[in-house]
Amino acid sequence: MAGTGDAGAEGDSLMGCARLVDKPVSEPRHEPVLLAEAIAALAPSAGETCVDATFGGGGYSRALLASPIGRLVAVDRDPAAVERARELARGEPRLIPLEGRFGDLDTLLAGIGIDRVDGIVADLGLSSDQLDDPERGFAFQLDGPLDMRMDPHGPTAAELLARLDEAELAELLFRLGDEPDARRIARAVVRRRASAPLARTSELRALVHAVKRGRPGRHDPATRTFQALRMAVNDEPGELARLLAAATRLLAPGGRLVIVSFHSGEDRLVKHWVESDGGRRLPGSRHRPPPPTAGSPRLVWAVRGPIPPSAAEVARNPRARSARLRVALRTDAPADAEGEPVAKRRAA
Ligand SMILES: C[S@@+](CC[C@H](N)C(=O)[O-])C[C@H]1O[C@@H](n2cnc3c(N)ncnc32)[C@H](O)[C@@H]1O
Repeated sequence: MAGTGDAGAEGDSLMGCARLVDKPVSEPRHEPVLLAEAIAALAPSAGETCVDATFGGGGYSRALLASPIGRLVAVDRDPAAVERARELARGEPRLIPLEGRFGDLDTLLAGIGIDRVDGIVADLGLSSDQLDDPERGFAFQLDGPLDMRMDPHGPTAAELLARLDEAELAELLFRLGDEPDARRIARAVVRRRASAPLARTSELRALVHAVKRGRPGRHDPATRTFQALRMAVNDEPGELARLLAAATRLLAPGGRLVIVSFHSGEDRLVKHWVESDGGRRLPGSRHRPPPPTAGSPRLVWAVRGPIPPSAAEVARNPRARSARLRVALRTDAPADAEGEPVAKRRAA
């Protein structure tokens, strides 16, 4: 296994769901997590249209193409992943590769004339192919530029570290990384950049180590800082929220939504979205039954509670340990006020 080291507290999200395996460079290095469970949950019938919203190394897509699926749209924001999807599509006419962000899913699909799908799967986080490349700047164990972008747009991690003020930086580290020393790290970043900008992963790691000196933990002290920055650079919470809204509009009645997350914040977002019916009502609880809603729920759980990886999978691939899979079913309640997905509203 190449050296990415320990994944960290919830740092399996930092490491994505990946394990690095010794394979030729041309082949994807990513080992899919919860693969059998995700495919069984999506369960495409003959002729159905589904979306793999996170193509990555193509593990999920390959397994889906072994089913009687009619069409599979493979989305990724990383041009390198989309190139792999294009290669696979050369011998597979049912596969349609699309470069873009899954938060824009209904616009992306409208662009190819699709306004209804039968299943959507998203396997959040990073692939090993991204993590293992020092030039991408995701892994604190590998020296490289502080980039951390999954696609070549928007500010890099180095630019965020140069631009945010101390309070903004502390808030970001605390909110997205649960970093208990967020304020001290933010202060150290601001002090350091007065003399020289932080440009390399090794520099940021050394700074965090210096701040957290004497507080050894189970994981590398820089884990939470790197996780928070990566999530901010790629607007991961915003992307997930937009994906949930788009999926609710796009899924046909009976359609399946399958999400694999690696971080409790992401899993909470999915749970809250389904249980609050996309923000239309407060979720119920043991103490508070759900209040009456204006309409029927649009999503219901296909399986109550998250599905974790099996002990055998965790033993084989320790980075799978924080993965959680959730499966929701689309009901026949109207999608939104207009009751139509974006493509139909545009066409009208
Ligand atoms: C964990 S990997 C997916 C691995 C894949 N299931 C497989 O079996 O190989 C996550 C992938 O999702 C992509 N990704 C993350 N956020 C995205 C977003 N908002 N829109 C599109 N792709 C995204 C990443 O670029 C990465 O390639």
